Amino acid sequence: MAGADTADPGTARDSAARVRELQARLNHHSALYYAGKPEIPDGDFDSLLNELKTLEEQHPELVHPDSPTQRVGAPPDTAFAPVRHEPPMMSLHNALDIEELRAWHERVLRALAAVEARPSGEEALPTLEAPGVGDFSVELKFDGLAISVRYENGVLVRAATRGDGRTGEDVTHSVRTIADIPIRLRGDAPAVLEVRGEVILRLSTFEALNARQAERGEKAYVNPRNAAAGSLRQKDARVTAERGLSFWCYQLGYAEGAPAFSSHIQTLEWLRSLGLPVNEYSARLPDLAAVEAHVTDFERRRHDFDYEFDGLVVKVDDLATQARLGVDAKAPRWAIAYKFPPEERTTELLGIEVSIGPSGQATPFARLEPVFVGGVTVATATLHNEDQVAAKDVRPGDTVIVRRAGEVIPEVVGPVLSERAPGSEPWSFPRDCPICGEGLQRAEGMSATQCVNYWCPRQIRGRIEHFVGRAAMDIEFLGERNIDRFVGEELLRDVVGLYSLDFERIEQMEGFGQISVNNLRRSIEASKQQPLSRLLFALSIPEIGQVNAQVLAAAFGDVDSILEADEEALAEVEGFGPIIAASVRAWFDDPHNRTLIEGLRSAGLQMEVDEPAGTEAGEALSQTLAGMSVVVSGTLEGFSRDGAKQAILARGGSSPGSVSGRTTALVVGADPGASKLRKAESSGVPVIDEAAFQELLDTGQFP
Ligand code: IVH
Repeated sequence: MAGADTADPGTARDSAARVRELQARLNHHSALYYAGKPEIPDGDFDSLLNELKTLEEQHPELVHPDSPTQRVGAPPDTAFAPVRHEPPMMSLHNALDIEELRAWHERVLRALAAVEARPSGEEALPTLEAPGVGDFSVELKFDGLAISVRYENGVLVRAATRGDGRTGEDVTHSVRTIADIPIRLRGDAPAVLEVRGEVILRLSTFEALNARQAERGEKAYVNPRNAAAGSLRQKDARVTAERGLSFWCYQLGYAEGAPAFSSHIQTLEWLRSLGLPVNEYSARLPDLAAVEAHVTDFERRRHDFDYEFDGLVVKVDDLATQARLGVDAKAPRWAIAYKFPPEERTTELLGIEVSIGPSGQATPFARLEPVFVGGVTVATATLHNEDQVAAKDVRPGDTVIVRRAGEVIPEVVGPVLSERAPGSEPWSFPRDCPICGEGLQRAEGMSATQCVNYWCPRQIRGRIEHFVGRAAMDIEFLGERNIDRFVGEELLRDVVGLYSLDFERIEQMEGFGQISVNNLRRSIEASKQQPLSRLLFALSIPEIGQVNAQVLAAAFGDVDSILEADEEALAEVEGFGPIIAASVRAWFDDPHNRTLIEGLRSAGLQMEVDEPAGTEAGEALSQTLAGMSVVVSGTLEGFSRDGAKQAILARGGSSPGSVSGRTTALVVGADPGASKLRKAESSGVPVIDEAAFQELLDTGQFP
């Protein structure tokens, strides 16, 4: 569908057909939206609506009273008693960038000039100068759902959803359970007060709700707004109560017996004094330049909050000026919603492919029709593993929702089912490795699928890359590209081969000369002196990261003792247990690895610790992380969860379970926790990947 969204202006007949199509589609999606079951992201909705607006402006004869451009929202559901809104609850016009914000400002100035000019009959001057607009009130545009709450003599008597703007649904029973909304106002309450605001779900509450949904085996809510909508429209108020909804009040609807106000911000302050929750980031700003700076600032910080907002609302602050500007069919002229670029868009899922990691792990990923979302163009997104693909049930050819919020890696949220082509089939994991063509295997009880061909080129390269790495044998001058070339030219097929490289041939290769070859030779030669613990780490033994390698070396003292040790003895090693023991045993029992060990022994590598057993671990580690606090989230390739923590502790650092302002860095692997990431972003804690983590361990610094 993504490709069909932007049509050429074309002929009049094309336009008429497109307008009808857009009207129908937008009405369909708007009904779903108000039923709390949206199928497409807001960003898509907005771009369809913009296209319709443009076409209707060019062809006013095609505007129909039922067109979504003429209506504020969806008709109310009769399941909840209707409530009339007086005055109507209007919508807002949108500005999608700073240019559109400026255009709105100019329209406001022009309209005011016209109003001024009218009495004397003079023609309005399209001037950008006097009369000015005065101050602006700038508020967050909360991404929840609008309600109206009515108080009589200070007591909450009714609450209603917005509905179509004129008539909403009575949700008093649910709204009474929202802790933020007072049942009784404080202080000098007016005889009648009707306020408008947004019901939202805080992100922390949303995550807790989804955790509970998962425990009960129920489907997760896709975003806080859907969850808030579903929670409010509950017949059983107890359900609403346990969801923990919040509320922000942003507009006075109607009052009797209230003080006279001249400014919108003043009304907000008064509402706050009555005990209503008014957001602390409502600001009064003197001119458009200040507004622009303010919206840009909040756009940058939008993920630093525990609630979502999808833009800011700019309002003319002076109430008399508001009255002079008035409203049009849909929205006030005195306000504009400045919307951030969308973080969710739909696009076509071109295919699901599998990538093979350095240790043979087969990871499915989505190849997407490139889509601009969250500030970048996204063409691929990981799907993690077979179960994740099945849970999302995304299928090649589907229209899918892609989300990228902040710095977080892009994610495929799920398919738009109404757009699925008939006869599509669920995706199934390929049987063979896309690199070597051998069979893939998924071990019982594991989520990962593996290429188990020891000679798969990707794994050959992966093992060599890991072996030469800085934290392993530290062989310089051998980057990914050269390893690929050497493997490709059959100069190298395993790590033993490094110690019998044909340097004469290498010297003939493009990009090499005598000096670089000598450097390489020297670096390989020096690696023979690396301690046993490094060698054990370098061998890519599953479960054996840096710390476990040190423990293993220290516990057995030499390779032969490890070769002889049975699983029980291995399991008794401090911090090991049966899983690590089984993994080590299996690795050393594999004939390929036995041959490898013998090859390395003949090449002259260190097969035993040179100090008495037990001292190596302490000696090898300088306290690079002294005084630092490093938090790890998600799955790392080279460390188990515990291993990463031990690596930090062993270097004098601490590794608490959550991020705070004192955290030095947050290390993220695959599937990091959203709350840790958010906390890191809001506290300005650097977020680093595994490579930078490795560097941090080695040097106490990261790039
Ligand atoms: S004022 C007559 N202020 O955005 C003006 N609306 O797209 C009425 N919204 O229906 C709206 N935050 O649901 C206003 N600070 C804010 C808002 C806000 C969120 C919502 C509201 C409105 C929609 C319009």
